[in-house]
Amino acid sequence: MQQVSTQKFRVAAGACVLTETGRFDRFFVGFRSGIMSFKREPKNMLNFHRRRKLFLGFLMLGALVALTLGCTPGDPQSTFDADGPVAQSQLNLFWIILGAGAVVFVAVQGALIYLLIKFRRQREDDIPEQVEGNHTLEFAWTAGPTAIVILVAIPTIFTIFDNQVSPEPGALTVDVIGHQWWFEFRYDHPDDPTKDVVFAGDLHIPVHEVINVNLDSVDVIHSFWIPKIAGKVDMVPNNDNTMWIQSDQTGTYYGQCAEFCGVQHANMRFKVIVHTREDFDAWLRAEATPPEESQDPLVAEGKKVFRSASAGCSGCHATDPISNDGVAGREGPNLAHVASRTNLAGGMFDNRDESGNVNLSILQDNLRTWISDPESVKPGNTMASEGAAYIDPENALTEAELSAIVAYLSSLK
Ligand code: CUA
Repeated sequence: MQQVSTQKFRVAAGACVLTETGRFDRFFVGFRSGIMSFKREPKNMLNFHRRRKLFLGFLMLGALVALTLGCTPGDPQSTFDADGPVAQSQLNLFWIILGAGAVVFVAVQGALIYLLIKFRRQREDDIPEQVEGNHTLEFAWTAGPTAIVILVAIPTIFTIFDNQVSPEPGALTVDVIGHQWWFEFRYDHPDDPTKDVVFAGDLHIPVHEVINVNLDSVDVIHSFWIPKIAGKVDMVPNNDNTMWIQSDQTGTYYGQCAEFCGVQHANMRFKVIVHTREDFDAWLRAEATPPEESQDPLVAEGKKVFRSASAGCSGCHATDPISNDGVAGREGPNLAHVASRTNLAGGMFDNRDESGNVNLSILQDNLRTWISDPESVKPGNTMASEGAAYIDPENALTEAELSAIVAYLSSLK
């Protein structure tokens, strides 16, 4: 309070001194003439400066956007590095539309700049010639855009139909089911098509083959997107959207939910692992086989805790990889072969080391971090809000129980 009054006093005193000495008057006159001279500056000059600044601003913004989004095919989720016929056709369509847009932009802006310069006002009382009704012009500006729209529509329609209708309806089919916030993948059992092999987190596919994808969701609308392999298609509950994909390179790709589906939408991710056909067959057969039972007593203890009512894990997570075809899955990801997955918790954890393979000690660290406090890792997730071990402090996992569960889950290869 004291300080404020002192400051006010100083300002008031300063003004008095200025007025007293006549300096304030001179200062005020100077300030006014400054404004007047600014106002007197020719209008056109002012507009020119402002426009130049605006133009430079837009130029810099454009450069920034180009740098951020630009042609960076090396990025793991860049659509400019298309793999397979679906992504390639979509990238081709993008270039066609971008090209048509660029031609229109250059033509319109070029004509605008030319006309602005050529027909700018020469004299103060200049009034342009008044023109009214020109059939040639009217025809031209109706026919021109129509032709451009038709030129863009033809490849667009062909691409939509090519992407929509599978070229091989009998090819390998994967059911992809969206959950808040992870992806479930189901394959026909290699020996018994009435049964499904259930997997989560990683989509495994064979290279150079058409894969038919059935999309569904158990809760809200999600969207299935593998930027380098295929554009987005929505996963709508009880609405059987389909698509097909094909990858022409073996390796690992990144997938992502592309429809806002709740607080952890950005953390609803998956990997796509593209194998040779032989590797894929071997993988699917291994997945269809229940994991080997370990004789380690800690693992046996972990299994007991996992199945206990107080921990509540097995209420939501199955450890049998097989499910009847069409039967709704459990609430949480199937954990039958969880120790073979590249990621956990919808892409929150990466279990691989630099070699690209799942590393047991990284996996165990990740499992421990995740199970000890899922809410702090992925706020809002169902396990933290519904798991028996998390909702009742009396059921909270002890350090020994946690270690046993980690040992058990990391034995499920
Ligand atoms: Cu699922 Cu966003």
